Amino acid sequence: MSDISTKYLSLELENPVLIASSPLTSDIKGLVRCQDAGAGAVVLKSIFEEQIESQVEGEVLANEQYLAHSDAASYFEAVSKDYYVNRYLDLLRQAKKELSIPVIASINCTNLSTWVDYIHVFEEAGADALELNYYPIAADADTDGRTVDRRAVEFATRVRQAATKPVSIKIGYKYSSLANIIRSMDLAGVDGLVLFNRFFRPDIDIESMTLSQAANPLSSSHEYAESLRWIGLMSGEVKCDLCASTGIHSGDTVIKMLLAGAAAVQVCTAAMKDISVVGRMCDDLRSWMDRHGLDDVASFRGRLAQENMSQGGLWERTQYIKRLLGE
Ligand SMILES: Cc1cc2nc3c(=O)[nH]c(=O)nc-3n(C[C@H](O)[C@H](O)[C@H](O)COP(=O)(O)O)c2cc1C
Repeated sequence: MSDISTKYLSLELENPVLIASSPLTSDIKGLVRCQDAGAGAVVLKSIFEEQIESQVEGEVLANEQYLAHSDAASYFEAVSKDYYVNRYLDLLRQAKKELSIPVIASINCTNLSTWVDYIHVFEEAGADALELNYYPIAADADTDGRTVDRRAVEFATRVRQAATKPVSIKIGYKYSSLANIIRSMDLAGVDGLVLFNRFFRPDIDIESMTLSQAANPLSSSHEYAESLRWIGLMSGEVKCDLCASTGIHSGDTVIKMLLAGAAAVQVCTAAMKDISVVGRMCDDLRSWMDRHGLDDVASFRGRLAQENMSQGGLWERTQYIKRLLGE
């Protein structure tokens, strides 16, 4: 039988299907379910600095009458923050104790110094690797695109220097030159890039006239195209591992991502709907490899990456493909 093991972020994985950072990976019961379903690794639900800040702020306000002394307020604030971070660390330690598959911690911060602090504590708590959920919103009209890009690359350089374990950065695709950002982050030395996150978007509830979260945070099965294209375009150009994320709902899509050059894939929506999809994806991958006489993942990974194709330009010119197909 074909061997579907792979290497991602220097970690040996039994298969390339990871469970993405999501509600499935937010407690130990969910994490054990992911492993039992056959996941190659898990990415813990992100710890969000902003969420901790706002929770702590709420608690400080609720306890205002007991915190009249300013030192008491800052002491309370520090203890509360530690409480939330420790809860995450407990989950990480428990996961490392109970799971045999690699456990990747996921971090989302607003301040660079907090990113670095969290990297250190999560490494100490035993994370096999770190995934940094990088999500700056370029909403300041005074900041030009060059500055946004420079900050992203500075971020990659700084976190790579700070970490001793493998580091991946999970990004969105809205950069003016995505190819340049991907290559610059690679040159900064990151071990992996996750292409791409699918960010929640705000909406408006017209009855309460308040902001709400966009109705459906879940992806559909044809949303994989953007990840596929950029993995196809960039996998031959970068040294770091590319991991596909968004719209991966079937074994066929896993195979496409590997052919384009992904080292692994992450699944969220499809696994939230039915965790047994992970086993089916692995079975489909194995039987496709058997059918094509492929012994291991290395023998075909990246076969259709732009660099390895005589007609690699097709990754860019989809209009041209349409003409060829006579549409
Ligand atoms: C309910 C929900 C919660 C999520 N939470 C996180 C998170 O904490 N950190 C993160 O990096 N991505 C998070 N994501 C994004 C997923 O990890 C994934 O990148 C995205 O859903 C696209 O993959 P999919 O098409 O398989 O759903 C979340 C997604 C959903 C639906």
